[in-house]
Amino acid sequence: MSDPLATLQRDHLQALERCYAETLTDLGYDGVLIYSGHPALHFGDDQHASFNSYGHFQHWTGQTGLTHSWLLVRPGQRPICYFHAPDDFWHLPPQLPEQAWTERLEVIPGRYDEAPPIAAGGRLAVIGDVSAATSAALCAELNPPALLAALDEGRVRKSEYELACLREANRMAALGHRAAREAFLSGGSELDIHLAYLQASHQRESELPYGNIVGIGSHAAVLHYQHYDTETPRERYSLLVDAGHRYRGYCADITRTWPGTNTDPTFAALISRMHDIKQRLVTAVAPGVSFVELHERMHRLLGELLVESELVKGSAEAAIESGITRAFCPHGLGHLLGIQVHDVAGRTARDGSPLPPPTEHPALRLTRELEAGMAVTIEPGLYIIPMLLEPLESGPAGQHLNWALIERLAFHGGIRIEDNVHVTTNAARNLTPEIE
Ligand code: GLY
Ligand code: MN
Ligand code: MN
Repeated sequence: MSDPLATLQRDHLQALERCYAETLTDLGYDGVLIYSGHPALHFGDDQHASFNSYGHFQHWTGQTGLTHSWLLVRPGQRPICYFHAPDDFWHLPPQLPEQAWTERLEVIPGRYDEAPPIAAGGRLAVIGDVSAATSAALCAELNPPALLAALDEGRVRKSEYELACLREANRMAALGHRAAREAFLSGGSELDIHLAYLQASHQRESELPYGNIVGIGSHAAVLHYQHYDTETPRERYSLLVDAGHRYRGYCADITRTWPGTNTDPTFAALISRMHDIKQRLVTAVAPGVSFVELHERMHRLLGELLVESELVKGSAEAAIESGITRAFCPHGLGHLLGIQVHDVAGRTARDGSPLPPPTEHPALRLTRELEAGMAVTIEPGLYIIPMLLEPLESGPAGQHLNWALIERLAFHGGIRIEDNVHVTTNAARNLTPEIE
């Protein structure tokens, strides 16, 4: 087998078998059947929506596109993968990749439009996008919350194999980001930049971990901007690209903001300072650090930056107190990263109890204390979002804002710098290569 990750994947699967066995035994199950899922049909049409298999199925196989496949995991027994590969002359049936999981698991190729026949007996759970009728036919409990929560928790700390996959996803995404910048500087439109990104990072659009965000100028202020203009604007103030890559299911999630040909020097300085802020926050990542506190630290640094750049008059503390920093940055500092770009269990404590975000930071997706083995994003940002800033004008904060400068910078949209970081036993290791 020519797979350089084979040993790591074997270790990963061995640990996963142990973890599932413990969880199932603790919760009183004799087995769990995991369904990979199937794509939805567009209503009244014969065309399918794009598809991404269930995260817990990917945790074992890394297969993002396998439909109608099932995985049976029982303590003390070799896991079985029912691999849906029907004879078909319309499509090429899926092929087994040369990866360690295909040897470690028992793979039974076949046609599984319906669930595979599972020998009766014992208490079975079935998880995934499964109908109540299918679960009843299997005599299985459908998506039991306690089991799902425990399996989600099992994805929070990454194995060496998973970290290697995240690193490779980051390496490929970085190739895309460099090409995106080149395409922008040579006069490309948002669509040209998006296509340059796909080509350089060598992936098709439907396999991206999330839709590429490619915003020139004021579009950079739309946090999840989803269009690709085909015309290049005459003035090129800035470019924000938030785009990733998926490697064996594991996601990169990287953002860079670049100055253009018409960039205001204040905005260019803000970009440079945002890199420093990102770096300071990355350096602060370590086990035991509260991510909520790190998010609050981002607001302190943003407050200082707003004052220093004269966007805000007064003190950084006052800018935080009055909600000014939140109007400039309404999203969270980051989130867990893995098989899902916003990975599971970010707002749940290790014992399963909910950890809702603070009322004043409702968009924060990670409210836990950092632990060794986690992978997180660190993504400070600063945007001119008229919808959030304008309401401040008539209130007490209004007099502290430099409206003339805000108006000048509005053409540039905003800034986000995002890296992917592994929490090691004593510090942070950046998974994102240098792009600048
Ligand atoms: N790309 C979405 C995010 O950064 O969370
Ligand atoms: Mn992102
Ligand atoms: Mn992110």
